[in-house]
Amino acid sequence: MRILLAASEVFPLVKTGGLADVAGALPLALKRLGADVRLLMPGYPAALEAATHRRIVADLGDHLGSGPARLIEGRLGDSKVPLLLIDCPRLYARPGNPYLGPDGADWPDNPRRFGLLGFTAARLCMDESLTGWRPDILHGHDWQCGLAPAYLSAWGGVRPATVFTIHNIAYQGVFDPSWLDFLELPERMMSVAGLEYYASISFLKAGCWYSDKITTVSPTYAREIQMPLQGCGLEGLLRGRAADLSGILNGIDDAIWNPAKDSYLTHRYKPGDMLGKARNKTALQRELGLPMRPDRLLMAVISRLNDHKGMDLVIHCLPDLLMHHHCQFAGLGSGSAAFETGFKELADHHSHHMALHIGYSEPLAHRIMAGADVFLMPSRAEPCGLTQMYALKYGTLPIVGATGGLIDTVADTERGGPKGAGSGFVLEETTPKALTSAVLRASALFKDKVEWNRIAAANAGLDFSWGQSARQYLDLYSSLLRSRGGA
Ligand code: ADP
Ligand code: GLC
Repeated sequence: MRILLAASEVFPLVKTGGLADVAGALPLALKRLGADVRLLMPGYPAALEAATHRRIVADLGDHLGSGPARLIEGRLGDSKVPLLLIDCPRLYARPGNPYLGPDGADWPDNPRRFGLLGFTAARLCMDESLTGWRPDILHGHDWQCGLAPAYLSAWGGVRPATVFTIHNIAYQGVFDPSWLDFLELPERMMSVAGLEYYASISFLKAGCWYSDKITTVSPTYAREIQMPLQGCGLEGLLRGRAADLSGILNGIDDAIWNPAKDSYLTHRYKPGDMLGKARNKTALQRELGLPMRPDRLLMAVISRLNDHKGMDLVIHCLPDLLMHHHCQFAGLGSGSAAFETGFKELADHHSHHMALHIGYSEPLAHRIMAGADVFLMPSRAEPCGLTQMYALKYGTLPIVGATGGLIDTVADTERGGPKGAGSGFVLEETTPKALTSAVLRASALFKDKVEWNRIAAANAGLDFSWGQSARQYLDLYSSLLRSRGGA
């Protein structure tokens, strides 16, 4: 089966969040199952530099007013997965974050930048002369790839089957309708039965409307986005397409997130080896300048700092937990100015119990995951969430909001859950009181070392490997091809 995967960020080339982890791991897992997979992404400078075995494969011409562009083929790391990069300097030769300028605002030409991503994905599906290869399946990820199936629909002809994955419905790529012309899409698409969203263009809606199948990244989130609370205005459309919508839980990449192989750790340890983990706690406390006290409950956050992630709850609860309940805190993240300031002020006041790193650091993320006792993720919405699964693997007990993929991956130690025995702490509601109460429950259990270590060791054995998830995607692709009378 030939599959073209398209995404706007791919680990380890360019990453702002979990989408990159998924786009970097899923193709490798599909390849291991025998699929012929290629990956398409914008040719950001970091991606062009990091791709190995680069060669120019096609001249893409000048479309959507984007200036001259070429298709460059490389490899994803030392894997055999071909990586197709759209080398379009006018749109992508910009340093830093793939979506934002240095002022922290979206690049004003993002519709064109990601329009070209969808446009090129669609061309690769229809024009075999570009690469000598044509996919059976086009699988686009998130709003940045949402226009690909719209172009295929606009152009007509025999096209591959299309799958579109929603990683987060709160980010829709909504733009002024005047962009329609530049995007070379027909006027008729600007309709409720098309890509129109409250008189604007929604790239995410285009992906949902024009794809054969829609997936999202957990079964619970697949249900939630059909309801007004989490549907962000697309709940009606998704309910209408319920038969074509499914939730496939993400996996985690064992080559990257595994304490036994983790090159960022000085003290590697086998998943479940709590003595090995204890050495990482001491090392982390030393690195962060926290008192090296094994008996203090070390809480951690590694996150985008915003209200979806419930970071206001963490800011609210920290003073009490640090001052009155002998907890420590290690935070790593970045986000809106208000949240960054909120955390910084706390760090200034509680420097003896709290360490904070505002910014992005892959090595520190791994060391915090290995050194912390509990991982805080009180999200209000969480399509899947990867960090709570990394926490489980690293023997760090997750404290999570009762939403989306968090429900599907973490079972409360008191109330049990889908995986049987409890693995962490699930908030009863998304409030500061509930977060404090969950941390205090964790703190009480933490004193019972035998029980704590038993749970942490059992968590490390839970299977969240990509193999299972990739198999489900392959089954979906196969059923889609069968229903179209294809392979
Ligand atoms: P989301 O994609 O919504 O941000 P996920 O849990 O799916 O949430 O994935 C977040 C990913 O980004 C994880 O791999 C996590 O380790 C990483 N991450 C988030 N913030 C940082 C940061 N400040 N530094 C390093 N890694 C980070
Ligand atoms: C999004 C979601 C997150 C999910 C990730 C990968 O960023 O917010 O929950 O884990 O995509 O699918």
